[in-house]
Amino acid sequence: MKTLNITLLALTAATMLSCANQKPKAEEQQQTLAQAFEGKFLMGAAINQWQVAAPTSKEAQLAVRQFNSIVAENCMKCEVIHPSEDRYDFTLADEFVDFGERNNMAIIGHCLIWHSQCAPWFFIDDKGNQVSADVLKQRIKDHITTIVSHYKGKILGWDVVNEAIEGDGSYRKSKFYEILGEEYIPYAFQCAYEADTSIQLYINDFGMNMPAKREAYVKIVNDLKSRGLRIDAVGMQSHMGMDYPDFQEFEKSIEAYAATGVNVMFTELDMSALPTINIGANVSDTVGYQQALNPYPDGLPDSVSTIWNSRMDTVFAIALRHTDVITRITAWGVTDADSWKNDWPMRGRKEYPLLFDRDCQPKPFLAKYLIKQNN
Ligand code: GLA
Repeated sequence: MKTLNITLLALTAATMLSCANQKPKAEEQQQTLAQAFEGKFLMGAAINQWQVAAPTSKEAQLAVRQFNSIVAENCMKCEVIHPSEDRYDFTLADEFVDFGERNNMAIIGHCLIWHSQCAPWFFIDDKGNQVSADVLKQRIKDHITTIVSHYKGKILGWDVVNEAIEGDGSYRKSKFYEILGEEYIPYAFQCAYEADTSIQLYINDFGMNMPAKREAYVKIVNDLKSRGLRIDAVGMQSHMGMDYPDFQEFEKSIEAYAATGVNVMFTELDMSALPTINIGANVSDTVGYQQALNPYPDGLPDSVSTIWNSRMDTVFAIALRHTDVITRITAWGVTDADSWKNDWPMRGRKEYPLLFDRDCQPKPFLAKYLIKQNN
């Protein structure tokens, strides 16, 4: 079912050094994460505009060494790339795509239709009234066609629709849904396909382990397929914490999505090591600062780190059990320092959610993947 259709850059031994300038021990045959999972799935990271602008920074260098795929953390979202109806601003997104091309990485477009970080003009006319269904359809078409066409031949696949379903399986009452109903999803997929028949098309959401949400997405994928529309994969964002998700349910979801005939990806992997405030990933759900919810400002205690590593190890073990359908794991950031979770859902916490720490060192559970096994 799955195809990994990119040529990966052969990395030299020198490029395998970790970003803290430490040298590999001669007797150890080190490899990168991308190399460790080559032939199984792509290994990606979300990149921000500052990393793109500073390609010699240690974080950018680390990303280039360790990952073979990138997604834009923010610069391809509607509010940035299409700030007003007649203006597209491809400046940051073009730089991001150039970065990926220069480094021979599989570039993922994120995201075309999402209620959040959507420019406000999208749903209102020049008098401030909500637009009709016909006008919104035209705007969706123009938006998708212009952006997808702009990156034709450069991008492996697009998150066409992001976060359409609530935890109870109902449709999120976004403006897209309010104005167009359920039809906005197949319509968006149709527009994306018409803009570029060669790119992969994905649907993406958080909390994809939840049974009601799982059922809703299985239905959506089956519906898209029964209409003859292209959908290549379901993206399970995989924003996690120390007490969620339930890994059995998470694995059941992989199997359920795969059973519809599409591939599955972990698209925004991170795992909070701090007390859970909110198990969702609604960017707008925030709380005020409380010291008790920021317990490790001076470093993660070993006892917590051990549990974190064991849980993240489980996530990779699950992926490795399903390499027939898992095509990509993307971490939502490169190092702990640049994770959105330092400021969400509470500003000013010190978080430890990513695969590399603030010194660009791999988290301990990765050690076994970073040493080449001779078998
Ligand atoms: C969601 C979105 C991402 C990002 C994260 C938080 O998961 O899909 O684009 O905004 O929230 O950074």
